[in-house]
Amino acid sequence: MSDGAVVVPGFLVTKEYRRFEEFCGACQRERYIGICYGPPGVGKTLSARHYAKWDLLEGRDPLAFGEAVPVEIADCHSLLYTPPVTNTPRTVRSSLDERLVLLRGLVGRARRPAHPDGQADFSSPCELVIIDEADRLSTPSLEELRDFYDRGEIGLVLIGMPGLERRLARYPQLYSRVGFAHAFRPLNQEEARFVLEQHWQGWGGTIRSDEFADQEAVAAIITITAGNFRLIDRLMSQVRRIKELNQLSTVTREVVDAARDCLVIGAT
Ligand SMILES: Nc1ncnc2c1ncn2[C@@H]1O[C@H](COP(=O)(O)OP(=O)(O)O)[C@@H](O)[C@H]1O
Ligand SMILES: [Mg+2]
Repeated sequence: MSDGAVVVPGFLVTKEYRRFEEFCGACQRERYIGICYGPPGVGKTLSARHYAKWDLLEGRDPLAFGEAVPVEIADCHSLLYTPPVTNTPRTVRSSLDERLVLLRGLVGRARRPAHPDGQADFSSPCELVIIDEADRLSTPSLEELRDFYDRGEIGLVLIGMPGLERRLARYPQLYSRVGFAHAFRPLNQEEARFVLEQHWQGWGGTIRSDEFADQEAVAAIITITAGNFRLIDRLMSQVRRIKELNQLSTVTREVVDAARDCLVIGAT
């Protein structure tokens, strides 16, 4: 299991991430198919990358034997794949095979030092395949994926928009293998507040509990963004810009309103 905010810089381990981690862990352990659905911007992709430690693996050359690999790779068990908008069974299959080679090669090399005889362990470490943007998969690609799943001893997690679970229900061959469905939710108020604390700390401040202006600004941000991670990030980058431009020492409701007006979202 991943262990905190080391893999993706700035990644926050929220309760929603813990639920997602638990869900992926179950699919990995039971070798089931799981469907994870949620609206855009809530953190599905980042959570999947964090779970798979994908930042450590992506873009590395599995055959560059001269290069040292981070030891953390030794316990990677998952691979992540985002199909392109246009996909065919063949491209899906070859992309998955490529990633299997990547995972096997890198994990084998990362484990090598632990082997007393210095031999690399190249047995397949892949226990879970996570497919992001699974809504993009064409029907033949879904069929290919089912075949891939049936052949290997792996779990499969399909991530997509709400409605993915209903679409997949139309393919009984795949759907009958689904063990879990998981709704990825926006942050609740408490967690949105926790995320905002991190933003405040980022510019060297704290949200003062005894300061009405701070509380009012925080309440406004939570209302505007409805706990959507991406919206919080976008709004906060505007807040920061306005704060710096005007050399303000605190963030007030007026600053938040001005920031919101710069964004297309949330503008009333
Ligand atoms: N756990 C997290 N920690 C920090 N930032 C996050 C986290 N989850 C999401 N974000 C922020 O929200 C944005 C959107 O997340 P993303 O995973 O792309 O959402 P989704 O895949 O659900 O559309 C990210 O680019 C990042 O800025
Ligand atoms: Mg995404």
